[in-house]
Amino acid sequence: MSDWFSVTTPIYYPNAEPHIGHTYTTVVADTLTRYHRLAGEKTFFLTGTDQHGEKITEVAAAAGESPSAFAARISALFEQTWRDLGLGFDRFIRTTDPDHVRAVQHVLGVVHEAGDVEFREYEGLYCVGCERFLTERDMVDGLCRDHERAPEPRSESNYFFTMSKYFDWLADHIRDHADFIRPERYRNEVLAMLREGSGLEDLCISRPKSRLDWGIELPFDRDYVCYVWFDALINYLTGLGYPDDPDWEKRWGGVEHLIGKDILKPHGVFWPCMLRAAGIAPYRHLSVHGYWNVDERKVSKSLGNMISPGAMREKYGFEAFRYFLLRDMSYGLDAGFTEELLVTRVNADLANNLGNLASRTLNMTARYCDGRVPEPGETGDLEREVADATARAADEVDAAVRALEAHRALESIFRAVDAANRYLDARAPWKAAKDPEREAEVRTTLYTVCQSLRGIALLLAPFLPEAAATLLERLGIPDALATARLPEDAKRWDALAAGTATTKGAALFPRIESPAAE
Ligand code: MSP
Repeated sequence: MSDWFSVTTPIYYPNAEPHIGHTYTTVVADTLTRYHRLAGEKTFFLTGTDQHGEKITEVAAAAGESPSAFAARISALFEQTWRDLGLGFDRFIRTTDPDHVRAVQHVLGVVHEAGDVEFREYEGLYCVGCERFLTERDMVDGLCRDHERAPEPRSESNYFFTMSKYFDWLADHIRDHADFIRPERYRNEVLAMLREGSGLEDLCISRPKSRLDWGIELPFDRDYVCYVWFDALINYLTGLGYPDDPDWEKRWGGVEHLIGKDILKPHGVFWPCMLRAAGIAPYRHLSVHGYWNVDERKVSKSLGNMISPGAMREKYGFEAFRYFLLRDMSYGLDAGFTEELLVTRVNADLANNLGNLASRTLNMTARYCDGRVPEPGETGDLEREVADATARAADEVDAAVRALEAHRALESIFRAVDAANRYLDARAPWKAAKDPEREAEVRTTLYTVCQSLRGIALLLAPFLPEAAATLLERLGIPDALATARLPEDAKRWDALAAGTATTKGAALFPRIESPAAE
């Protein structure tokens, strides 16, 4: 098994500004990268934009710009947005990058040489929104199911990738590797697509330049450009260094593709067949998430109900938004977004629960222990329970992250927060402090919650990097993340030395007072 964890997001179409759907996948990728890095693995996080295809030529024309100028402008906006939000990708790829053009032409050459490309006449119904020919199943009342627009009838001579010859192999591979495509419902969906009679055929991989010249030229016929999906999928190879970087295969061995459910077919069927034809091992995991819905509809530019990450940051702070995204969607299922839900969630978990634990602990440490982690007195069952709750959370977080269940990981962390809050209430050091005879008990109590907060902050770091860093700083261990190993380090009790200077600071997450939708 590879010791790399390489995570990819879809490369986004630069036809409109980033919205909640793009932000979600990029946040999940960032969180996973941070976790796996803290777990001691080598990581690579790839994202970028999908520049070619008709969709871009259409919007560029409407804006009075060339496709290349338009795509470059919006791509820069995506890249800058992720940077501003602190989403730490290792590469932002654009499919116009010269190394990508070379990689696509290389794969086309290999697949062509292998005898898997044929020239044929084709007729079908094309949806520019999906950038592919539709089958009956993709339509409702003659309209594309996803884009709610009528596909265009098209007929032309094109090159075909004879991928149907790999369907049996692919079905076997999926059956033999339970977590190749997850969650299971999507694995079953792909198996259903591969079943005979489902209408899935060979893949048209060219567009005549006479109709569309915005794309990568076929190395074996200069009158054609490559079909945008065939081009786009290869970004996952280019981005990891294929074919020249000596590390590309190691990175590829640990690859985790994150996608939304609308692009299951290209990733679940086209892509493994392409890899097989090119003589490259299949990816390790394809993990498919659902939609964020606003008013029960998918968010998208064409439906005009976008939620912009920049606006959310302005209004609530990005970590609050990030927390909501990770906490309120079960990976694989749809979730509903409203600002009311966000405010309720953030106030309950971050402001009241975690924020309260941090501020009570740090304030009382300042007041009763001169702002230093105290020496503990005698400890007993109550202290052990807090330590156990933190250790349990560490193990649960590890399992949940590896199963792509960020919401469960956060639930576990907040069970540890609850345990520490309950403990603090039970010990009530603010009362005990009034009695000089109970001075040792106060020290034990604050020592215990400081240890717990340390573990909690380490576990939260991949999910809420800024808040976790602030908390560790206030606990007097600003460099803890540089050497920490998860999950073990979060379980290490007594790792926060007595005598360490702590600081109080302002509220980690101020309560959001204003009603959501102003
Ligand atoms: N360019 C292709 C992907 C090529 S990958 C080799 C593409 N781009 S996209 O910009 O249209 O969509 C990118 C991703 O955003 C998809 O995974 C899609 O599922 C996701 N989302 C778009 N709207 C969404 C929601 N409302 N909710 C969650 N994700 C959704 O497809």
